[in-house]
Amino acid sequence: MHRYERLDGEGVTLALTIAPRGAPRLLYWGPALAPTADLVAWDALHAPSWREAQPDAPVSPNIFPVHGFGWMGPAALSGCAQGGDGAVDWGACSVRRILDAQHGDALAITLRDPRLGLRAELEWHLDADSGVLACTSEIHNDGSVPFALANLAALSLPLPRWAEEILAFAGDWALEGHPQRFRAPIGSWAQINRTGRTGFSGASMAVLEAGAGDEQGRVLALHLAWSGSHRLGVESSSDGGRIAQLEALLEPGEILLAPGECHRTPFAYACFSDAGLNGVMARFHPFVRRAILPRASSGPRRVHANSWEGVYFDFDLEKLKALADGAAALGAERFVLDDGWFCGRRNDQAGLGDWRADGERFPQGLDPLIAHVAGLGMDFGLWVEPEMVNENSDLYRAHPDWCVHAPGAARPGMRQQLWLDLARADVRDHLFAQLDALLGTHEIAYLKWDCNRTVFPAVSAKKPAGQAIARGGYQLMDRLRARHPRVEIEACASGGARLDLEILKRAARVWGSDATDAQERARILRWASLIVPLEAIGAHIGPSPNPITGRQLPMQFRAAIALFGHMGIELDPAKLSAQEQETARAMIALYKSQRALLHSGRLYHGFSEDGAQLAMVVAEDGGRALALALRLEASREAICAPLRLLGLDACCDYSVDLLAPWPAHAAKRLAQPDLWRAPRIFSGASLMQGGLPLPLNAPHTAWLIGLQRR
Ligand code: DGJ
Repeated sequence: MHRYERLDGEGVTLALTIAPRGAPRLLYWGPALAPTADLVAWDALHAPSWREAQPDAPVSPNIFPVHGFGWMGPAALSGCAQGGDGAVDWGACSVRRILDAQHGDALAITLRDPRLGLRAELEWHLDADSGVLACTSEIHNDGSVPFALANLAALSLPLPRWAEEILAFAGDWALEGHPQRFRAPIGSWAQINRTGRTGFSGASMAVLEAGAGDEQGRVLALHLAWSGSHRLGVESSSDGGRIAQLEALLEPGEILLAPGECHRTPFAYACFSDAGLNGVMARFHPFVRRAILPRASSGPRRVHANSWEGVYFDFDLEKLKALADGAAALGAERFVLDDGWFCGRRNDQAGLGDWRADGERFPQGLDPLIAHVAGLGMDFGLWVEPEMVNENSDLYRAHPDWCVHAPGAARPGMRQQLWLDLARADVRDHLFAQLDALLGTHEIAYLKWDCNRTVFPAVSAKKPAGQAIARGGYQLMDRLRARHPRVEIEACASGGARLDLEILKRAARVWGSDATDAQERARILRWASLIVPLEAIGAHIGPSPNPITGRQLPMQFRAAIALFGHMGIELDPAKLSAQEQETARAMIALYKSQRALLHSGRLYHGFSEDGAQLAMVVAEDGGRALALALRLEASREAICAPLRLLGLDACCDYSVDLLAPWPAHAAKRLAQPDLWRAPRIFSGASLMQGGLPLPLNAPHTAWLIGLQRR
């Protein structure tokens, strides 16, 4: 006798079949079913059919598959009992509804193997308001001998047949967010990250039906909320079965569960959309805003001025004051002093670990600078990299064994630094005391928390410890946040290598990339925003020529891209021409007038037939919108295809305003510039069907379009 459980959330239903033995099967995940939907009949219709060369009892994918009794696909759990085996055989499954005040509908699923003494506890929450699924698995050793855990998936999701394509992301330093889309091979595909950080390739992926795009088609988007090594995988078998799996990576011997012990995975998040990738954002963004981002970050996102690309390590107090003066004059609201302020730090080879102001650079400490910044009406932020130590530091000289290392083996550096062993409570206590003193004695509103190397070898106390090191980082951050709840944290890891939803439970935003080149940043923002809303992705106006790519871009274009993230500036304002300063000032003012909309509305991405791009935020009530019409590569057609807007109310009229400052070179090609000196009225239907014929031929053109419903 089978039982059925369903979870319902905004426009979607997820149904599970619970067989007398074994883990539940995913019966349905798609558009909402009627409360009366006959799951029994649906299940009977989809019962696995018999075929040659398979176990006598058909084995179909379930949500927690294990090896040993006929399942040949990937296992959600594998390992071995000491002196025994690892053939897990789940008995009866029990499912309880749990009250989840935050999210709504949730199921607690318990599986037991009495022979091995294993108990798995899975939680599946379907957020009522957004339809986002949150899953975690926990394995308990209820037996009498240790169990060596080899893998434990946070989510194993049997995929529907339409999910034929994979969208994943490749990245490297300053090269984040390169989409890769391909047909799922028969066999297995996996993105495996062994860096001990979320990584430049991120922790998000999607499976899609062929032809699905921004606006149309079915998609399942998946994300692992974990700032460490991990695996995102899809395995397809030749019988058409396909399963996606998300898990934090375990090293051999890392988790040895003694009797009575348990191990829990990070959360995996997923959603179904039948409105393409824009539908994914429509589910994830409200969810992340409400259920993930820390409360402290809910106010208006201040315009940052970050010192890094303005001065790098080359500064003294006077230079910083001048930088702050210039930034304030452009409209910055927060001054963030980046790397280089602490003991002995003149380059990236010394000082990490000694979180006290450098006596030569700041003879009277940080306070004179902080006071100067406050006098300009800005608050103050400071860069730290707490998990790291340079060999050339007082901390390392005092505690050479506090770094992650394998005793007796080499200690390979990266950026001349070593990772501190945050699995150790004494190391965490020391770092907490240093950072607590810093925050307790200065008016610091913000910490940019960087992390510029990967973990190798991930060893603590002579044992593999990737999990414990990553969790130690969370613990340190949590303790600091509890003590200083008003201090906002930005998560940065050589740019965008820590973009995940577990760090975003603690950090107000992530630094999207070290690529401040607006052309690169446009791509990075576009794909980071598949899961994360714009306000939580830092984007700054950088110098031109750009220090990384050498590309020269107009200020208006650079600023328009930064405006579609959490905007900041990261350059020396004194090096800007008067015209550039005026443009930057105007664009920053524009950001301030639009941020309430940008950071609460619904984001859409789109394309014109000839490759111009659209990013557009529409207010929840549809009354206002801001569109960014963008061209990165020159059009091959002399007259551009009109750019169709998205998300408007087809039945209403909108007043449409080409917001100044206009892109200078493109503005010369406006057919009727005078027409646009004041807002024009057009119907939502014509803007979405006919589109706006703006001059968008040349590369690096950006128009900002304000819309107001009439
Ligand atoms: C890497 C970050 O991504 C940069 O923004 C900057 O903070 C440097 N580290 C400083 O070392």
